[in-house]
Amino acid sequence: MRKPIIAGNWKMHKTVQEAKDFTKALADMVANSQVEVVLCPPFTALAAVVEAAEGTNIAVGAQNVYWEEKGAFTGEISPGMLKEVGCKYVIVGHSERRQYFGETDETVNKRVKAVLNEGMVPIICVGETLDEREQGITEKVVRTQVEGALKGLDAATVAGLVIAYEPVWAIGTGKTASEEDAQGVIAYIRSVIKELAQDSADRVRIQYGGSVKPANIVGLMQQPDIDGALVGGASLEPESFGGIVKGAAGA
Ligand code: PGA
Repeated sequence: MRKPIIAGNWKMHKTVQEAKDFTKALADMVANSQVEVVLCPPFTALAAVVEAAEGTNIAVGAQNVYWEEKGAFTGEISPGMLKEVGCKYVIVGHSERRQYFGETDETVNKRVKAVLNEGMVPIICVGETLDEREQGITEKVVRTQVEGALKGLDAATVAGLVIAYEPVWAIGTGKTASEEDAQGVIAYIRSVIKELAQDSADRVRIQYGGSVKPANIVGLMQQPDIDGALVGGASLEPESFGGIVKGAAGA
């Protein structure tokens, strides 16, 4: 009932040419996949990836957005601009944005609303740091982030969201949360959403992110509450990303 969604977050990688080559190579590997496949290139390569993905089952997302429609905000990109270029998804509140660029639950909420206003789907990232996990406050942290991100949204809107649970200590470190740990926190996130938006909790898709690779995707996807993955490092080569999509489709 919840269609799996595998998204590649390229972060600050790939030129326009590299992005085009990648998309063409991936398209053949994921043709007819039962899994939703999303590529999130840097802003500069969005248009090229949209063009290269035309007629394939690859959708395109951005990695960030500003919440205003237009104005004197040097260096920022508006939701309307992303929509026009062909984005269907926008990653919001990635831990690197929170850590290096001062994003807060409040600004995440503004971005989420702005993305929804343009008819795109936010992929909302939440997750605890190593320090927070060691203090035993993982649930408290993700609850605050989820409640903050979803503030003011009605239940029907919540049903269409994608949430990515990404423990910060597992991002780019090679350390994946165990399948049981990931399932446990993701089930908890679903229970928090149930409090906020009842039946929508069964429809909202929740991904796991943090050192996902072809070797661990199947076990993750076999967990009842894990609906996909947000993939960083392993999304940079068509073989590994294609392998993750295949693994997710077979799980
Ligand atoms: P990683 O990154 O797969 O390289 O750990 C995941 C992410 O940051 O979304």
